Order: sequence, then C-alpha cells, then structure tokens
Amino acid sequence: MCGIIGVTGAADPLQVMLDALALLEYRGYDSAGVVLVGDNRLWRKRDAVRGHSLETLRHAAPGAPTHMSSGIGHTRWATHGAAVERNAHPHCDCTGRVAIVHNGIIENYQELWEKLAAEGHTRSSETDSEVVAHLLERELANGAGLAEALRRCVAELRGDFALAAVSTHEPKVIAAARRTSPLILGQVDGIGLVASDIAALLGTTRTLYQLEDDEIAEVRPDSISVVGLDGRDRELKPLKVGWDLVAARRDGYDDFMSKEIHEQPRALADTLMGRIHADGTTELEDLRLTEVELDGIERVVLIGCGSAFYACLSGRIALEHWARMPAEVEIASEFRYRDAVLGEQTLVVAVSQSGETVDTFHALREAQRRGAKTIALTNVVDSLLAREADGVLYTRAGPEIGVASTKCHATQIALLQLFALHLARQRGTIEPEEGRDLASRLLALPGLVDRAIARLDDYFSVADRLAEVQDVYFLGRHVGYGVALEGALKLKELAYVRAEAYPAGEMKHGPIALIEEGAVVVAIATRGRLLEKVMANIAEVKARGATVVVVCDEYDEATKAVADHVLEIPAVPELLSPAVAIVPLQALAYGVARARGNDVDRPRNLAKVVTVE
Ligand code: M6R
Repeated sequence: MCGIIGVTGAADPLQVMLDALALLEYRGYDSAGVVLVGDNRLWRKRDAVRGHSLETLRHAAPGAPTHMSSGIGHTRWATHGAAVERNAHPHCDCTGRVAIVHNGIIENYQELWEKLAAEGHTRSSETDSEVVAHLLERELANGAGLAEALRRCVAELRGDFALAAVSTHEPKVIAAARRTSPLILGQVDGIGLVASDIAALLGTTRTLYQLEDDEIAEVRPDSISVVGLDGRDRELKPLKVGWDLVAARRDGYDDFMSKEIHEQPRALADTLMGRIHADGTTELEDLRLTEVELDGIERVVLIGCGSAFYACLSGRIALEHWARMPAEVEIASEFRYRDAVLGEQTLVVAVSQSGETVDTFHALREAQRRGAKTIALTNVVDSLLAREADGVLYTRAGPEIGVASTKCHATQIALLQLFALHLARQRGTIEPEEGRDLASRLLALPGLVDRAIARLDDYFSVADRLAEVQDVYFLGRHVGYGVALEGALKLKELAYVRAEAYPAGEMKHGPIALIEEGAVVVAIATRGRLLEKVMANIAEVKARGATVVVVCDEYDEATKAVADHVLEIPAVPELLSPAVAIVPLQALAYGVARARGNDVDRPRNLAKVVTVE
C-alpha cells in the first residue's frame, strides 16, 4: 500500500513526481505529498482530502520553487495515524533538512522513538514512518552521507518497508532501501528514479532495476550504486518489464473498473493462448518444476487473500475433479500463523494479482521453510512472489488499476483450471479425449465472457432497481459458492452495502433467521448438478419474503420464473462457469456503487496493493 516516487536530475522534478503519483494513486489515496530539494532547503506540500490530494498538489505546482535538484513524493494508505495532513508523507526531521517517504510498517518504531526523544528529537506526526527521518538526522550529524546514514538506519529497523530519502546535504542524491515492500530504480538521460512499482516509471524509462531485501541504493542523475546491509557493493539487477504505459490508461472509459471488466475476454485469451495445444496438451512456461517433481506432489494447498482466495475455491474443485489431487484452500493471513503440516510432497500455490500482498508473501516463505514446493500465480512479472517461489504461473491480464479485482480474478480462475488440466494429463486422471474436450472448452471461455459482457446494460438496469438496497445475501453451492463470495465482496467494497455469502445449503442452519420481507437474495443458479437443490433454497428464502435475483443460464425459463430479477449468462460447462457467472455480479456492484455516487476505482478505506499485515 502507499506509492513512492523519487526523481533526481529532471528539469522539472515536481511534474515528473505528479505524473508518477497519478499512476501510483491506486496503491493508496488517503493523502499525498511531495518534497523538493535545492537552494539549501526543502519545499514541502501535502494534502489529505481522500482521493483529491493530488489535485491540491497540482494547483500548488505553479508556486513551487524552480531549479530544484530532486524530490520525493508519496500517496498514502493510512496505517499509523489518521488520514490527516500532519500524517501525510514526506516526513521531515527536526532541522527540516531531511525528508523521507515510506511504505510498509516499522514494527519497532515506539522503541526507537523513546531513544530519539531521550536524545531531544520531537515528532510532528503519529506515524511510524517519521522515526526514519530523525534516525537519518542523527546519522548525518555523525558525519555519514545520506545513503550511508540510511544503511545504518535500516539496520535498526524491524518490519517491512520501502524507503526513499533526500536531504539538503546532498541535494542530487536520493537514498532508497527496502525490506519485503517493493522498490524499483530507473535511469534515463541524466535522470535517476525510484518508485514503488513499474506503473509509475513506464512513461519515463524502461531501463529499470530491482532492489533486493536489505539493499540500500544511492541514486544520482547519472549513476546508481547499491550496497548491502554490510556496506559491500551489490550488482544492479535489471528488471523485466511486461507492460506499456498505454495499458495503464483509461482509454476513454469512465473508470478503470469499467475498462477492466470489458478487457476480460482479451485477458482470458492471452492467459490461455499458447498454453493449450489442439491435441489438448498444455505448456506452462515458467512452472520450473520438473515432471518428476510434479509426480511427487501428493497434495496442493492454494493460498490467497480476498478475490484471489475466492479464485482458489474454483481451483480446488478443478484440481480435485480433473486431477484427482487432494487440494485445500487457505486464507494466506491465517495459513501463515497456523502450524500447517507441510512437506516436500506438498505444493503450495500462492495466488496474488500484485505478487506483493504481504500476507501471501510471508505465507509462501513459511511454506518454503517447512519444505513445501511453491508456485506463485501472479499477474506481475518479477514481482516479490514470482521471485521467491520455485515456479510461476503468470496470468496475462495486463495492469489492473481499479481497486476491485475483475479481470485478474477471472484469469486466476482460468489459469488454476488450466493448471488442473496440466496435472490431470500428467497424472493420467483424464483420458486424452476428455483432455482435448476440456482444452477446447477452456479456450471457449473468452468468447462466453464476451457474451456476458454484451449483456452489461441488462445487468446495470437490475443494479439501478437495487440501488437503495441495504442488506444482500449471496447464495451458491459448489462452484457457485466461490462466485457468491466474490459477488458479495464486490458489493461490499464498491457499493458499501452489507453483503454476506453463504453456501446455500447452510442457510437453514442459522442465517435464514435473517430473511424477512424486503431482504435481497442473489442466488447463483446456473445449470449444474446442484441446480435443483439451489432452487429449493431459493424457494425457502422466497417463502420468507426475500426479493430474489438469480444468476442463471439464458433460456432457463424455469429458473427465471421464480426470480424477481434475472441476470442471464450464456450456458457454460459447470466447472468452468465461475469466470462467466461473476460478470453480472461485477456489473451489479459497479452499477449500485455508481448509482450511489461512489468512486469505483478508489473505494473508501482500501488500496489496490496490501503490503501491511
Ligand atoms: O494482489 P492480490 O491478489 O494479492 O490482492 C488480494 C486482495 O487484496 C484483493 O483481491 C482484494 O480483495 C480486492 N480488493 C478484491 O476486489
């Protein structure tokens, strides 16, 4: 969470920072701020009006001093300290000659503050981050250069962090460091750059480098040097770039979410194409696990958070059904702290759009520590997870900027299904003919999603009729349960509507007590082996006064007849239905959110990338 940018050597560092912060805003938008360094002073501007702080900075730009050498900027998702201006980054030391920006959490900040306070430092925010500015002040006073001061300071920090710092002592230098939270470096035509992700730098340079854990960089206009915590020189490691800037723009859509919903067919096609051949064989290029290693796998544990976790639910069903592989699903943040029993016959698949989610990352490390083989299933090439895992499965969805996951969720499901087919063939649990058939059905998914997207206006008109809804219950069974969970999450995070998802069969074990006249129930009632049972569950809530919305197959008149509102999708083979059935629920949440005047790309309290626990 939080976006960081640093620039040195640019003619107009402020403009470079403002452009980059606009591309980083999806990481957090509680506040934003910049510092410029030059003329032996710092110029700082911060603002904390959620989602609008960048506008304030833009308006302030004409009043900024010119001829400044460098600067650092930040867009914040608040952790320690409320989302108010005094807690907005950059933070300064007591002298006003050092400024820092930070992403992550400094776990021992209280302890460090006590020492600093005893030395006479005073703080001006409630953040954990500010401590770093004062630690730097102390080391600079002891004679260290900025990068060396940061190295000494990092040695004292506990937690996960990415940091960039400037000081009036060396106005052309940006010092940067990281532990777990990502930070990348860039260089072009006498300009040095630091940023928390690729999106921020694509418009400026494609010559990018990655910084590893506990490395400290000194970035100057025409050079970058890196040392480890021990002070020894480290090599600069080039970073692969898979996207271009155009892909990170709205392209005429009202918002990124709308663009990303429409991009789902292409994202699915790109994720599947070239990986399934006409004869039904599969090829997963970055899997990096040999056939012998895969043969040795006796159990798969799928982990993720939020929508990624819900994608895992569909993955489990596919692994069990086609590959006859024992499979479990775990929320990464819980898995990490359980005493999970894992061994070298266990394969842990960590699913994460960003490849940065700190819970998923630490869960993967824990799995490795316990001897399991690991795969990262991610959308970001060379992300933290991709670098850490034994093998990688890349979704090829392109950048997903809207906070609510859409195209990445759909591609995660499809790629897990493709992986299940891959294992099924290898384990001989499906006949070649069945494998061919399944491959061709998987390849038909983009077209089916496209047909669902063609019905978006129908879905939006149901959303309009439900715009005032208060509480919604999503019901599904089997593959429909994961869809129900994801549909409820979309409605919560975008429309701020209380929404709960239940396996439909569980309703009568308690939750049905909540159903009364006016309750809204969304049932996933696509054709499959449990449709009759779902219909019975629909009858039970209808009998108690619920308004029923069904997601059902087109031409399924019997199901439509019991519903108050219908969200039709093209008929899809049962196990492959989640990637299609989720489209109307994305649209429902989008439509209700828009009707309520909510910002669908930047819903309140959220950030796209969750890099704190
Ligand atoms: O980057 P990740 O896939 O690891 O992110 C996981 C969740 O934070 C993410 O899916 C979140 O739940 C989204 N806001 C859902 O729309």
